[in-house]
Amino acid sequence: MRPYLLPAAVLFLGFASAANVPHGKAIYQTNCAGCHGAKAQGNIGPTLVGEVAGWAPALFQRALLKSLDDKGAMLKAPMPQWGKIGFKGDKGKAPTTAELQDLQAYLKTFK
Ligand code: HEC
Repeated sequence: MRPYLLPAAVLFLGFASAANVPHGKAIYQTNCAGCHGAKAQGNIGPTLVGEVAGWAPALFQRALLKSLDDKGAMLKAPMPQWGKIGFKGDKGKAPTTAELQDLQAYLKTFK
């Protein structure tokens, strides 16, 4: 690699590891807004603003992958089992860590 390309590469990797909020917004609007509300304020499903948005990443990711809440209780239908069906457009693949980080980062933008 030419020396002057190195800072650009470091910059790129730095951005790649940070959460992508617009991507999280797109996932949210396609998969969650219908039940949890356009601003995650709650509708058929509970609000995701505040407490859920602030769950430790491991707990938030477990909720989406294993359908368990922060206390380990099973999340009941109609909450979809995302770990089994995958997000829309993901062809049934379980959500990735990056997708879940982006999604939670978007939920944190609501007050
Ligand atoms: C078809 C409606 C529906 C859709 C779509 C949906 N949810 Fe839910 N969600 C629910 C319902 C209903 C509950 C409550 C389930 C329960 O308490 O057993 C819930 C519960 C949750 C909880 C647990 C909240 C808590 O306080 O324990 C989280 C987290 C959650 N949903 C996130 C999401 C995310 C993120 C998406 C989009 C990827 C999504 N949901 C899409 C209906 C839905």
